[in-house]
Amino acid sequence: MTLHPLLIGDLQQHFLRWYDPAQWSGLFIICDTHTEEHCLPVLWQKTGLPANTPRIAVTPGEIHKTLDTCQRIWSAMFEAQLDRRALVLNLGGGVVGDMGGFCAATYKRGVGFVQIPTTLLSATDASVGGKLGIDFQTVKNAVGVFQNPAAVFLDASFFQTLSQRELYSGYAEVVKHALIGAPDLWAQLRTRTHLNGVDWNQVLRDSVAVKITVVEQDPLEKGLRAILNYGHTIGHALESYFLHTSEPLTHGEAIAWGMVCESRIQEKRRPETVGAVRSDELEAYFAHFYPRRTLPTGALDDIWALMHQDKKNQSGQIKMSLPGQNPLELTWVLPEKADVAAVL
Ligand SMILES: NC(=O)c1ccc[n+]([C@@H]2O[C@H](COP(=O)([O-])OP(=O)(O)OC[C@H]3O[C@@H](n4cnc5c(N)ncnc54)[C@H](O)[C@@H]3O)[C@@H](O)[C@H]2O)c1
Ligand SMILES: [Zn+2]
Repeated sequence: MTLHPLLIGDLQQHFLRWYDPAQWSGLFIICDTHTEEHCLPVLWQKTGLPANTPRIAVTPGEIHKTLDTCQRIWSAMFEAQLDRRALVLNLGGGVVGDMGGFCAATYKRGVGFVQIPTTLLSATDASVGGKLGIDFQTVKNAVGVFQNPAAVFLDASFFQTLSQRELYSGYAEVVKHALIGAPDLWAQLRTRTHLNGVDWNQVLRDSVAVKITVVEQDPLEKGLRAILNYGHTIGHALESYFLHTSEPLTHGEAIAWGMVCESRIQEKRRPETVGAVRSDELEAYFAHFYPRRTLPTGALDDIWALMHQDKKNQSGQIKMSLPGQNPLELTWVLPEKADVAAVL
């Protein structure tokens, strides 16, 4: 089963071949003000679409991935008089992809949409797999749907205007995919100490292939898909912990740290399941890309409390999902608080 067309490489070539104006009654673009500035001119130039195509540019940032912003988007879609045969183009990072996809999937019970990710994180992870949604009452991704886009276009030329920190943030998910299911990709990446000169189209092809294989086997997250959550049990807790400090972590910084900590716990609690890549190697590798942070005394209680909010938990037991000895093999590790204390 193929999820949806995934077209990697020059948007100009792929979009023009894929897009058939006769199939759609109208177009609507959802972007944020950053991608409106940096990516929309590229979209016009590569697709030849008219610059007066109706659009909305929302305020950037996770804090705007809300129902309020959805109402603005739906209003703009009504103003543009889109009917059920319209096509929405989501041009942006994971926030635009998740929220724009959600708005499209619910507008008039659903119109077609395509994802045109402009961050490495959304290209390698968020734009693929059909999870759409928004945050609600401070809970991330609390309201949403599963719905596949009509197509996903991955064009690495959008990354040129990303800050290094955003690029590195997405890179943690690339490494995660390599570690859980693409040993050849990891072999190629493991000697890197920076990201200059990366052939992103090739890396994206191998990295996204892992996500697609997992999602195709488990589209509704009943089993194997949890493997994509490697590093996220501790990582999300770290991300939430630092969110309200003066120096928040990016998602990638948090999950890179999370992968190291979770692997270390796996080595202690379930050594028989550990594959070729050890936590020490990972920690040394990630040091090239992510600054080390220290946790203030007393942070453990907060982190442990935050870990209790994880969606994978059952009956109050925290469950971490990690790769096993073979590619795409899922391992569960059930940590105690002392395990977490020992690795943070
Ligand atoms: N649906 C999924 O399966 C899935 C998976 C992973 C993450 N996500 C979601 O993805 C979101 C994070 O995505 P993100 O890291 O892309 O964040 P983002 O969309 O907030 O983008 C990061 C920043 O980069 C800016 N930006 C985007 N593209 C740019 C470009 N080419 N040049 C310059 N600036 C640009 C954005 O305006 C924003 O300020 C989270 O909301 C997360 O929940 C979803
Ligand atoms: Zn992630």
